[in-house]
Amino acid sequence: MVKPDLTVIPKHVAIIMDGNGRWANQRGLPRTIGHTKGVEAVREAVKAAGEAGVEYLTLFAFSSENWSRPETEVTDLLGLMRRFIRRDLAELHRSNVRIRIIGDRRNLQGDLLPMLLEAEETTRANSGLTLVIAFNYGSRNEILRVIERLAVDVAAGLLRPEDIDAAMIDGRLDTAGIPDPDLIIRTSGEERLSNFLLWQAAYSEFLFIPDFWPDFDRQMFFDALKTYAARERRFGGLTTKPAAVAG
Ligand code: FPP
Repeated sequence: MVKPDLTVIPKHVAIIMDGNGRWANQRGLPRTIGHTKGVEAVREAVKAAGEAGVEYLTLFAFSSENWSRPETEVTDLLGLMRRFIRRDLAELHRSNVRIRIIGDRRNLQGDLLPMLLEAEETTRANSGLTLVIAFNYGSRNEILRVIERLAVDVAAGLLRPEDIDAAMIDGRLDTAGIPDPDLIIRTSGEERLSNFLLWQAAYSEFLFIPDFWPDFDRQMFFDALKTYAARERRFGGLTTKPAAVAG
């Protein structure tokens, strides 16, 4: 096992977990098996992130666009998430993991959102890895909700349009208080952001991995951290210092 260079660990890694369906197709299995295997890869990623000293791990679990999948697949995905919270919450809590949920909480029915919020509440005081679960998440929707709230404040005379700055937007996004992702990984060979953390990804490093998400393991996570450590981040300037050590 090749451990990453621990001097340049990204503070925040975000992952677009892609390829569950293709992983299953390749094996002549139903897509749902791919998603089930995907949850195992989630567990691996959480452990590896904690072990490496990553402070924030964001996982794109269910996008606001995923509702358009066949009803059976949506039911499967929501069921897997429900089971993950039921089965893994105690262990995550014991491991000092703090859970944060991002995404649109409006108009969501059923027991899943309350479960996710309870997981967030239960683990609020933990000080280890922050696991950010993007659920019913879409970046444009998140930004629109911020604009809506700012417009209301402007209309109420609480805010002048010229006073709106980037920090104000940061502080109103679902990710308020969470540093921008240093590294965004997407599995399955697709090279797109797919409406994920558009605002927050302004200076992120991107890593596209050909493997399907169910095959993602600790070694791949550590390899990704190694690749990150070798990158030069400039943030529009000329510095050659890697971000994680530059702060
Ligand atoms: C992409 O594969 C994956 C998803 C749409 C969902 C990811 C969800 C999980 C891994 C399980 C639940 C998550 C947590 C945090 C417990 P795809 O179906 O788009 O694959 P394809 O592109 O090959 O069809």
